[in-house]
Amino acid sequence: MTFDHVSGTLSDLDRLVIHHVPPGGNWKHLPVDFPSARVRQIRASATRGEGSRSTYYGRLSWEKAAYTISTYITRPGNGCFIHPEADRLITVREAARLQSFPDHVRFHGTTRQRAMQIGNAVPPLLAYHLGTAIAPGTAVDLFAGAGGLGLGLELAGHQVLLSVDNDARALETLRSHAATHHRAEQFDLSDPIEFRNMLDAARMALGGRELGLLAGGPPCQGFSTAGPCRVDDPRNRLVLSFLKAVEELGPENVLFENVPALRWRGKQFLDELVERLAGLGYTSEIRIIHAEAYGVPQLRRRLIVMASKSGSPRWPEPTHQLIRPYFEADQPGPLVESDVRVTVRDAIGDLPLFARDDPDQSVPLASAASDYARWLRGELSIDQLLRSTDLVAHGGQ
Ligand SMILES: C[S@@+](CC[C@H](N)C(=O)[O-])C[C@H]1O[C@@H](n2cnc3c(N)ncnc32)[C@H](O)[C@@H]1O
Repeated sequence: MTFDHVSGTLSDLDRLVIHHVPPGGNWKHLPVDFPSARVRQIRASATRGEGSRSTYYGRLSWEKAAYTISTYITRPGNGCFIHPEADRLITVREAARLQSFPDHVRFHGTTRQRAMQIGNAVPPLLAYHLGTAIAPGTAVDLFAGAGGLGLGLELAGHQVLLSVDNDARALETLRSHAATHHRAEQFDLSDPIEFRNMLDAARMALGGRELGLLAGGPPCQGFSTAGPCRVDDPRNRLVLSFLKAVEELGPENVLFENVPALRWRGKQFLDELVERLAGLGYTSEIRIIHAEAYGVPQLRRRLIVMASKSGSPRWPEPTHQLIRPYFEADQPGPLVESDVRVTVRDAIGDLPLFARDDPDQSVPLASAASDYARWLRGELSIDQLLRSTDLVAHGGQ
């Protein structure tokens, strides 16, 4: 059984949209005279050649990967969040499954807050693979949110001692899955005094040990293509707070995560990050990583900076192939269709078609689950999941 099987509330107009859109379809399947100002706006901007918005009002396909699970899963008009079969949006748990959060993670807050925590997260399965490329040791996770990144790092053998965020609800979620030695503390890292307090908490958690890894994904709203771009958004300066924490804590390795658009919309921050890391003695490398290349059933690209004090950083080998070369899609442009093996059905096919009203109500799961779902249900270890992936990748049983 699992929980959090609740979805966003729909208006009458939303219901009409959902009725018209077939699996794999989007706003283009709506009649030209569809009575919605937003749909008219999307159609007009597509006609002007300002991008096709092809995920908007999208309905998932059972046999494909999902598109990016953003923080907007409670609305149909900002991405591809309509259930492949039921006339509703995907639930919080379905979004969590598509983001590779195990079922034992219980989310906290309103439905909207839960959706934000999930959409903001680094898929734990991707984080696991990134973590395997870094020598395991002590770790601190800044801007940790619900802890997707930290969860994957722990799975890869890192000992996350401290996670920090300024969102109390996200930290409650994080505490639901954190190991006992792992402290989750609330600090506003834009505030100089709270930043100092965070440094004290990190040093206390380390207890004289060296810091192996400083990880973090500062907020990306100002850089993201999923929302309005505000380069002067004060949250963007949190990239520099992360850098200041590197200076102060001197970790052996650094893992920084953000949206690919940081390369152009936030270029000045990224350039400063890399230059100052070099000044501190780190060799760093920036890559655009596809989550689906690591078995996440979702087309999600993220910008990752890995930096190390002892030579060039290492990167994990992809476990799943993409049709287009792995590093190519680092420019804005159409979404890349991948040769997916892990599908929406694999991720959520065992969940009931009917959503619930109460996130704390338990829901039964069907038995015929994929290995991916069995891993998320706690029935397979990560090693067993990877062994089965390997067998498929090499043509075995
Ligand atoms: C992109 S999310 C990080 C997600 C996280 N890495 C994960 O994998 O789940 C950014 C986080 O920064 C937090 N944040 C925003 N402003 C902050 C501030 N001033 N101080 C501390 N955290 C902040 C947000 O609450 C959000 O959880």
